Amino acid sequence: MTKPEEAGIIYSHGDLEGWDVSALRNVPLQAADAMLLVSATTKDAYSAEQFRIIRTRVVQALKRPFVLAVSSPSVGDGKSFTALNLAAAMALSGQAPTLLIDADLRSSALHRRLSVQRSPGLAEILSGASLVRDAIFRFEELPSLAVLPAGEETKNPTDLFDSLRWRRLAQVVRRHFGQVVVDCPPVNLFADYDLIEGQCDGVVAVVRPDHTDRTLCLAALAKMRPKLAGVVVNAAEEWFLWKKSPERYYSHYGSEERLRSGK
Ligand SMILES: Nc1ncnc2c1ncn2[C@@H]1O[C@H](COP(=O)(O)OP(=O)(O)OP(=O)(O)O)[C@@H](O)[C@H]1O
Ligand SMILES: [Mg+2]
Repeated sequence: MTKPEEAGIIYSHGDLEGWDVSALRNVPLQAADAMLLVSATTKDAYSAEQFRIIRTRVVQALKRPFVLAVSSPSVGDGKSFTALNLAAAMALSGQAPTLLIDADLRSSALHRRLSVQRSPGLAEILSGASLVRDAIFRFEELPSLAVLPAGEETKNPTDLFDSLRWRRLAQVVRRHFGQVVVDCPPVNLFADYDLIEGQCDGVVAVVRPDHTDRTLCLAALAKMRPKLAGVVVNAAEEWFLWKKSPERYYSHYGSEERLRSGK
């Protein structure tokens, strides 16, 4: 039997026809932790610069308009942190309006980080309970950054993504925003990721040297490879970033001087 949405009966994305980003609802920007929005502050200039570098590489790898998935091999690698700050860095570039979507319906985080309501959001759009234009908002202080929160908890995220509504939503937002960043669930845990990725133009993988399991990492990268736009090494220690070669690393750690000093 044809699903009602596929027959076009309750399909609602036509509500963005003739609509403009400037018509979005404005909310004040109150990041729960200002450090989480490094790109919009000067508090952590080094991290902000790293996000500008990632932004530049993504924009070079993909042609605008694009929808970019941010995912990782496991829970807690820094997907939401990266998606939020990358979207903010994109919005600050002034090139095109940016939309950040919280598509991690099982573990949504962005509404808390940004101190905003979680619904109406993506879950309500995908279930047909909300119009797109009622769920997306933008920040007064950073009007080029729009956000679609996750919405209320739902028992069937996979079914919501396995739908015409999700496929159409991805097409519609691509038409209205120059770049769309999608905060995803981990790669290999649920089918949600595959369904989300299917509508994205590129993928950024987030790995965290002190956290990400190496086996899961290799499996995730293999899966992401066809659309991989880049890998973000999150929360890396200085030694990890700057070691030039294994020899240098081992000579440093095994050196006579080091052994004598006991460091
Ligand atoms: N580079 C970083 N610097 C400081 N804190 C970080 C950094 N990256 C992540 N964190 C912190 O680590 C925790 C996990 O990060 P985050 O929520 O972004 O991970 P996630 O991959 O989205 O997790 P989940 O799989 O649960 O969605 C959060 O408390 C976040 O603030
Ligand atoms: Mg997350």
